[in-house]
Amino acid sequence: MSEPSLLLDGITHVYVTERGASLAVDDITFAIHPGEFVSLVGPSGCGKTTLLSIIAGLIKPTLGDIRVAGKEAGKPSPRIGYMLQQDYLFPWRTILDNVMLGLELHGKADDTRRKWILHLLDELGLLPVRDSYPHQLSGGMRQRAALVRTLATEPDLLLLDEPFSALDYQTRLQLEELILDILKAHKKTALLVTHDISEAVAMSDRVLVMERGPGRIRHEIRIPDPIRAAGPIEARELTGFHPLFHEIWRELEDPDRKEGRP
Ligand SMILES: Nc1ncnc2c1ncn2[C@@H]1O[C@H](COP(=O)(O)OP(=O)(O)OP(=O)(O)O)[C@@H](O)[C@H]1O
Ligand SMILES: [Mg+2]
Repeated sequence: MSEPSLLLDGITHVYVTERGASLAVDDITFAIHPGEFVSLVGPSGCGKTTLLSIIAGLIKPTLGDIRVAGKEAGKPSPRIGYMLQQDYLFPWRTILDNVMLGLELHGKADDTRRKWILHLLDELGLLPVRDSYPHQLSGGMRQRAALVRTLATEPDLLLLDEPFSALDYQTRLQLEELILDILKAHKKTALLVTHDISEAVAMSDRVLVMERGPGRIRHEIRIPDPIRAAGPIEARELTGFHPLFHEIWRELEDPDRKEGRP
């Protein structure tokens, strides 16, 4: 079997502030395999963003190991793309200049990459607005631009922290569909944080449910093939969809419920 794209082993993180130390995530261990799409759901404050920041190399965990494609990770790297909830586009740069930024920072802004970016902008319907400024675009267009910027450096692993939360429902569904198509076409591995259970079930191969205080993984749900094979909009119509939704809902709703204990 090939190396996992991402391997977390015993990740534990304690935040230390002037008010004391708090255990944010405790002994998180899981792997994500090449091409897999995994979602992380859990109550606010359970450590989802902390975990993504640790994987992206922005926070050094107190304990534990991270491996990306078999290699020790823990430093920011072009192999890992991190898309935050806010789009963080620079208002004074055009869309094209914004999405080129990652390549410029990594010194990779050559002709081949430029063509790849124009191709991505085209795939996401942004070619006509490439010379516009972020404020001239809708929220959905800005999110798509942020996605192009994340994909620009051709990362093997994408970390998406509630990338659709600012969008209206219809745009959100369209973008879910589009992103999944692009990730599958380019065989990317992804870890998505979302508060939307439907989104997690509709997009993922697996859903990890976290609990709070301290943040731990309490449950893992494998999404069955028919739902995985369907697009995110179609998946929501399938008979197997609602039982999965409710299973995750119950896990999130009842903080005392433990696996094997009804
Ligand atoms: N820089 C920090 N310093 C101290 N404590 C922090 C810091 N960042 C996060 N925390 C704490 O760590 C815990 C986990 O926070 P985190 O942002 O990872 O949660 P989350 O699951 O992403 O929540 P949400 O769903 O609201 O985005 C929370 O209790 C939070 O208050
Ligand atoms: Mg968060």
